[in-house]
Amino acid sequence: MRIAIGSDHAGFPMKEIIKEYLRSLGHEVLDMGTHSAQSVNYAEFAEKVAREVASGRAQRGILICGTGIGMAIAANKVGGIRAALVHSEYTAKMAAMHNDANIITFGGRVEGPQEAKRFVKIWLETPFEGGRHNKRLEKITEMEEKCKEG
Ligand code: RB5
Repeated sequence: MRIAIGSDHAGFPMKEIIKEYLRSLGHEVLDMGTHSAQSVNYAEFAEKVAREVASGRAQRGILICGTGIGMAIAANKVGGIRAALVHSEYTAKMAAMHNDANIITFGGRVEGPQEAKRFVKIWLETPFEGGRHNKRLEKITEMEEKCKEG
């Protein structure tokens, strides 16, 4: 899979760990920054990763800030993005199974590396269940369309 990854300064150390982990699993990684621990604004990197995913250049995206909250808020502003803040193995699984999340976010200041790796692996390996969840996701797409119209 081609996976886009991004972080702000608070998520930078974790991004480097997850990037290597994804490569070790055989994925192609697009690192959209940031590239140091210097203070930056998370929305910039959320947009970069979200655009990679929305355009289809990447199949999935991972965004890491201090808490994961700002990244989720920002990424969900991009049409077609379903970014889920995950904080447990259960939410990582449900993000894939029920929400078909094409991006996950989490907190570099919240999770430890081993937990974060587990979340990523579970989310990547869990298939979307479809069925009744398709209808629910269609509602979200309809909302996006309506909001574009004003
Ligand atoms: C940066 O200090 C912090 O606010 C940011 O990483 C993130 O947690 C925002 O949601």
